[in-house]
Amino acid sequence: MRQIIVIGIGAGDPEQVTVQAVNALNRVDVFFVLDKGTVKQELTDLRQEILDRYVRDRDYRVVWGRDPDRDRTATAYADAVDDWRHRRADVCARLIADELKEEQTGAFLVWGDPALYDSTLAILGEVGERGGVPFEVEVVPGISSVSALAARHRTGLNQVGGAVQITTGRRLGAGWPADVDDVVVMLDAHTAFAELAEADAEIFWGAYLGTPDEILVSGPVAEVADRIVALRAEARRRKGWIMDTYLLRRRRSRIDGR
Ligand SMILES: C[S@@+](CC[C@H](N)C(=O)[O-])C[C@H]1O[C@@H](n2cnc3c(N)ncnc32)[C@H](O)[C@@H]1O
Repeated sequence: MRQIIVIGIGAGDPEQVTVQAVNALNRVDVFFVLDKGTVKQELTDLRQEILDRYVRDRDYRVVWGRDPDRDRTATAYADAVDDWRHRRADVCARLIADELKEEQTGAFLVWGDPALYDSTLAILGEVGERGGVPFEVEVVPGISSVSALAARHRTGLNQVGGAVQITTGRRLGAGWPADVDDVVVMLDAHTAFAELAEADAEIFWGAYLGTPDEILVSGPVAEVADRIVALRAEARRRKGWIMDTYLLRRRRSRIDGR
């Protein structure tokens, strides 16, 4: 039976590739890459660097599929994402059926950890349910940008006995989530932290974590928000793209059993 390994490759630093991931990379016959086009060439290059660095004495192929565009004009966000996922599933189904022989192993290299804001597993689930060529899926966890962020700021994600929520910029835009003092925000194209009412919150922000372009800023939101907004805009202009993540923290004055 065909095997598909979904391999987490860390969030930007090739040294974040785990020993388990290296062993998995060395079992792969065909690496599948969904290509979005032009802008994030650096991310594609990093994947190739990982293969060059870690795959030893093994012939493999890299097969490219065209990543369909998402309809960013649609007002119904969830419907647009669903539609995009179905079209990506079409591409993946074709890749697996046409490019992988029986008994061969294919892989998708996933940024960070496949369990966090990544659609590869859901897409493969959909492909499997459609009942085309049968395949088995294996997952190798990776170091997520959230772990990388916490490490670079030398902080934990939660306070003693407290909860932490991982969410998106879109959701933070609706306000600070209930019942948590620590919130990790990903996929924020609009610097939602700058609009927060919680004036006393702290922020631990990181962009391009693990890469030579890494930028880190931390401090009270009220004091550093403008600097982050300006740094972010400048870096995005210079590089053409940005990936940033941040932890927002409301200090708990005592352990209150929440
Ligand atoms: C589609 S999600 C993928 C998350 C990934 N699976 C992970 O575990 O980190 C993309 C978001 O992850 C965050 N991200 C990924 N890599 C990053 C990096 N090197 N530096 C900062 N943020 C990063 C950003 O918030 C970005 O918008």
